[in-house]
Amino acid sequence: MAGVPSEILELARRARRITVLTGAGMSAESGVPTFRDAQTGLWSRYNPEDLATPDAWARDRDLVWAWYLGRIRGVRAARPNAGHRALARWPQHAHVRIVTQNVDDLHERAGSEVIAHVHGALVAFRCDTCDRPFDGEVDLGSDGVERYPPPPCPHCPPGRGHIRPGVVWFGEAMPVEPFERAVDAVRDADLVLVVGTSGMVYPAASLPDLARAAGVPVIEINPSETGLTWSCTHSWRTTAAVGLPALVDALGPGSGD
Ligand code: OAD
Repeated sequence: MAGVPSEILELARRARRITVLTGAGMSAESGVPTFRDAQTGLWSRYNPEDLATPDAWARDRDLVWAWYLGRIRGVRAARPNAGHRALARWPQHAHVRIVTQNVDDLHERAGSEVIAHVHGALVAFRCDTCDRPFDGEVDLGSDGVERYPPPPCPHCPPGRGHIRPGVVWFGEAMPVEPFERAVDAVRDADLVLVVGTSGMVYPAASLPDLARAAGVPVIEINPSETGLTWSCTHSWRTTAAVGLPALVDALGPGSGD
């Protein structure tokens, strides 16, 4: 078990209001590829940046929908890893709030309270025309199918509205309320953990700086250096599913499952 750096353990011991900002690296050990991992199989010839856009949807809705169905099937088949579970079993004397850039539901399935999905959620389906949420049946299709027609919106005239995933596409504005909740959560924390994000996408990547500006210590957990490393109080070269359980175990009693 990776030893926990003493200065990190000390900050975690003292913390009572912890906000955790997670990125795709948080779900990597659950087998969910990170955003910048190479695409595999049928999708290896596509670049996510070319699929996760309003233009791609307008140009070839069935292709984009099939790609998201594959991602949803992948997330459904995945399980929360030891890192997700460690955050959900942090000692009860501290309040842990999760702000995630991830569109999967692995934190929720591990039992954590997610206060903001700043880039939306895969299964927050909604109509691409009237914007109404859609909670009807969605056929998740099957692997190897490159195009799949999304369900029609039950509220729009036939042929008008189509159901889309509730994720933020490149070029789309982020939903305001989740980001405002995220800003509040980092500002009134007494410790911020940044786990598994390259810090390449703003404004989410500005959250650690907001914490530092508010005098809140920021600990990065990432096997690699990132653009955020320089602004973190400490940066621990470990992974989510190794570092977080080691940290929570080291916090001792009260952190049981
Ligand atoms: P990236 O794929 O950009 O970065 C993943 C980060 O996780 C990298 O810094 C890796 O070093 C790190 N990592 C990999 N394996 C890890 C592990 N086992 N434990 C901990 N860290 C690990 O993913 P994000 O930073 O989340 O936005 O990408 C941010 C945003 O870029 C995404 O939310 C998406 C994309 O544009 C939208 O979809 C709007």
